[in-house]
Amino acid sequence: MEQKYDFGLVGLGVMGRNFILNVADNGFTAYGNDLDEEKVNALIKEGGDIKKVNATTDVKTFLNALSTPRKIMLLVPAGKAVDSVIEGLLPNLDEGDLIIDGGNSFYTDTDRREAYLSQKGINFFGAGVSGGAEGARKGPSIMPGGNKEAYQHVKPIFEAVSAKYQGEPCVAYLGPKSAGNYVKMVHNGIEYGLMQLTSEIYDVLKKGGDFTNDELHHTFKKWNSDRLQSFLVEITSEIFEKEDDLTNGRLVDMILDKAKQKGTGKWTSQNAMDLGIPVPSIDVAVSMREISALKKERIQADKLYDRPKVAHMDKDKLEKITEEALYFSFIITYAQGLHQLADASKEYGYELNIAEIAKIWRAGCIIRAGLLADITEAFMADDKLPNLLLSPTFVEKVQSTVNSARELVAFGAKNGIPLPGLSNSLTYFDAYTSSRLPLNLIQAQRDYFGSHTYERLDREGIFHTEWE
Ligand code: 6PG
Repeated sequence: MEQKYDFGLVGLGVMGRNFILNVADNGFTAYGNDLDEEKVNALIKEGGDIKKVNATTDVKTFLNALSTPRKIMLLVPAGKAVDSVIEGLLPNLDEGDLIIDGGNSFYTDTDRREAYLSQKGINFFGAGVSGGAEGARKGPSIMPGGNKEAYQHVKPIFEAVSAKYQGEPCVAYLGPKSAGNYVKMVHNGIEYGLMQLTSEIYDVLKKGGDFTNDELHHTFKKWNSDRLQSFLVEITSEIFEKEDDLTNGRLVDMILDKAKQKGTGKWTSQNAMDLGIPVPSIDVAVSMREISALKKERIQADKLYDRPKVAHMDKDKLEKITEEALYFSFIITYAQGLHQLADASKEYGYELNIAEIAKIWRAGCIIRAGLLADITEAFMADDKLPNLLLSPTFVEKVQSTVNSARELVAFGAKNGIPLPGLSNSLTYFDAYTSSRLPLNLIQAQRDYFGSHTYERLDREGIFHTEWE
């Protein structure tokens, strides 16, 4: 009998090729499909044994080679490509087959595709995959959402290929519909926030403490062996060490200061606004990428305005307060993203379990960090926790570091170093932990000019005043 393969994958770019090889390493047979013959041949060559890994450019051959129900993952660019691949597969699929979109698709696109395909008896999953090319090869964090029963068919494969945290797989069924893509979107929003914060700390260490690249390397390396341990801090330490092949300096100094984006951070912010959930540490990370893109205007403006001369801070002191401020603001950024997830879960019926999400982020993904073990425990202790800042286990962590964030934000403001991620994190903290905010005045103004009414502190009801 002709051999049938356990798993199919469309899109043999770096991510797809690595993912399929990872599937094969874990004892499953896998078949790839791509229109590009070179990519097909490259996979066959790298796979080494076509009984384990095979590939074709022909969709029919691909689908005939898969065992049913077919489990087909798409790793193609989000957007139109996903729809066109689906249309190409559809005529030769059977009822009960599964299509898993592993890209960063927008969650409403996933809902649309799921509704369309379920009418045809096809199960559609949006599954966020995080960890970059290396993660795909050696173990990513996978965030699947869709039909729970159908997930059982792909569960053993995903559990085998995913990253492991102390033996536990970094994948879990997250919820119905687009839950998987939504969670991955917020993962990326948090990723934007953490990256922005790290870049601010780099800036302040460099400008305020004259840290050299070697010193930056050592500082981040040291931090990575302690409570700031995380993928992003780890790679940051390595970045400072990298020599530039074209000059005698370090590569980081030669890179243009314009950050690009594919949109997931912006979607997180936009959706948080729609939900009415504040995520200012993420919002400003998106804004900073936008400001960074205005390089020409920045150069022009730089010439028009004087900046304060940056005062020098003692290196040891600066290292201590930057570590504390970074730890503080990392916590605040996770708190905001998780708050958004909890609210979206209610709004969109995702039935998310926040502890489970923190759990599968502990390894494999870009935002993996030692902190996520503490976050997991906080939500396991109280699965209804609206915000991480309300967890008793986080009070001391935040309380003992917030003053360094204050000091650093003040230093940045005084010396003209932009620290918007840090200051937004601090402001969010100060506002969220204030039982009284000055928004009573805003209500009074609204009522003054528009009769929008207000509520009172001392009695129930809706009030209006003739102010003039
Ligand atoms: C991941 C990453 C991955 C991708 C980012 C980059 O989790 O593995 O998030 O999905 O590298 O989306 O996003 P930007 O291009 O928007 O920075």
